[in-house]
Amino acid sequence: MQTVRVNNFEAAFQIRGQGQPLLLVHGFPLDHSMWRFQFEVLATQYQVIAPDLRGYGRSSRGQAPLSMKQFADDLIALLDTLGIPQPIIFCGLSMGGYIGWELVRNYPERVSRLIQCDTRSIGDTDIVARGRRQMAARIIEQGPNGSALAADGMIPKLFSQQSFDRIPERVEQLRTVIANTDPALIAETQHALAQRHDATAWLQTMDVPTLLLCGQHDSISPPDEMRAIAEALPQASFEIIPDVGHMAPLEDPHTVNDLIRQFLSDF
Ligand code: MLT
Repeated sequence: MQTVRVNNFEAAFQIRGQGQPLLLVHGFPLDHSMWRFQFEVLATQYQVIAPDLRGYGRSSRGQAPLSMKQFADDLIALLDTLGIPQPIIFCGLSMGGYIGWELVRNYPERVSRLIQCDTRSIGDTDIVARGRRQMAARIIEQGPNGSALAADGMIPKLFSQQSFDRIPERVEQLRTVIANTDPALIAETQHALAQRHDATAWLQTMDVPTLLLCGQHDSISPPDEMRAIAEALPQASFEIIPDVGHMAPLEDPHTVNDLIRQFLSDF
């Protein structure tokens, strides 16, 4: 793991390989390690960069208020600092995908291909946003145990039943990542997620070749919703990964890696 100072925080990231830059952006409230089965494999063909977002993993929090746009600005600042001005391949999962929409919207010249895993374009409904604020308040009330509470609430929604049975150790590793995350940061990010833009109206303007991947049993960003995103984008293909949930890259890395490589080899 390396760190560089960007936008007044210490940005931690892994970087490996040569070729076109490929940025792997994690979901909420996780860190770069969720991409560990993609990182090595893709680094044989691409320059892969897997950062920890501001406040997450080994990155420091800095001062700026959290938003999906701020995370996108931070990623551009990281690329600038690493001397990567050319367009990148962006690959995000869930919240990483929300950040991907902001990146393409605000920096279209910086993205050559988009890979969106288990993500949504619509913003939160009032009910969902209220649920997030209530969850944030409960996490803060719990003090140091707030992150364990967040993990207990999230883990059942992240994996398919098949994955709970087949790869329990990956489930437990992810629980540990969430439980080790600062509860105040989790609560703050819930507020940022509740306020994120609805990117649906942007989709038709996003003329970048896009691959959408969705776990068959993803209950957070369900296949029908992702198919609708594919239909709204000018250049998209859509694949369902059988037997997995919201964490497709972690639950079935082999299939996800094959689909990513196939998509990128078409260009
Ligand atoms: C994620 O995996 O990043 C979250 O499920 C996103 C969300 O809560 O909307």
